[in-house]
Amino acid sequence: MHYVLSVDDIQKRFRSGPREIQVLQGIHLYVRPGESISLRGASGSGKTTLLNIMARMEDADGGTIHWGEREVTAQRSSRLARVRARHLGMVFQSYYLVPELNALQNVVLAGRIGGMKRKEALDRARELMGLVGLDEREHHLPTQLSGGERQRVAVARALVNRPDVLLADEPTGNLDETTGDLIMDLLLKVCQDQQAALVLVTHSRVFAARTERQYELHAGTLHEVGAETSED
Ligand SMILES: Nc1ncnc2c1ncn2[C@@H]1O[C@H](COP(=O)(O)OP(=O)(O)O)[C@@H](O)[C@H]1O
Ligand SMILES: [Mg+2]
Repeated sequence: MHYVLSVDDIQKRFRSGPREIQVLQGIHLYVRPGESISLRGASGSGKTTLLNIMARMEDADGGTIHWGEREVTAQRSSRLARVRARHLGMVFQSYYLVPELNALQNVVLAGRIGGMKRKEALDRARELMGLVGLDEREHHLPTQLSGGERQRVAVARALVNRPDVLLADEPTGNLDETTGDLIMDLLLKVCQDQQAALVLVTHSRVFAARTERQYELHAGTLHEVGAETSED
């Protein structure tokens, strides 16, 4: 089986003063091309830590990570950022747009970081701004956009390099219910359209239920919700 993202036996602990807390203790997750997966868990259960480890933004204490066929567990090369940009897209609760750049430029910049030529990045960014319904907002600065519009830009940015996987950490966490619903619709639609797998961290049972596979993170391990237990 070919996976776009594989996580094997991930361990992570944090030290705070004399105490050590084991946040992740043996996490396994295998993401297939184009599928949608949700991760739920109490606040502080380690969801963000796990997503950051998957993206190699943070180091694990044990276990292995593959992006597609490539093992990246300990990869330190200067090319990691470019490899990441091409393989993974990320969306965060707080958008993290570059405030000095307009909406279109934010998306173009991500394409440039992924190695695209200027023209290619611009064409691709325009295409995605259309896909997320923001053709009319290309030249707005982030401060001139609503929360939902900022998150649409962030979704466009995450997809500019045609990643195999989009990682979204509570993407609706700062939005009102109606806008959150619209962003959730958008994420599912554009991931399908762009053939990207989606790994969604969310508090919402309703949003989680819209993904094909659902997991809960509890006491440092992942449990699939409603998984078949039969052996055949
Ligand atoms: N850099 C850090 N140093 C120490 N503890 C941390 C650090 N990052 C996260 N933690 C702790 O790890 C646990 C999991 O955090 P996090 O992954 O942010 O949880 P979640 O996203 O599920 O709310 C929490 O107890 C948090 O306090
Ligand atoms: Mg978190």
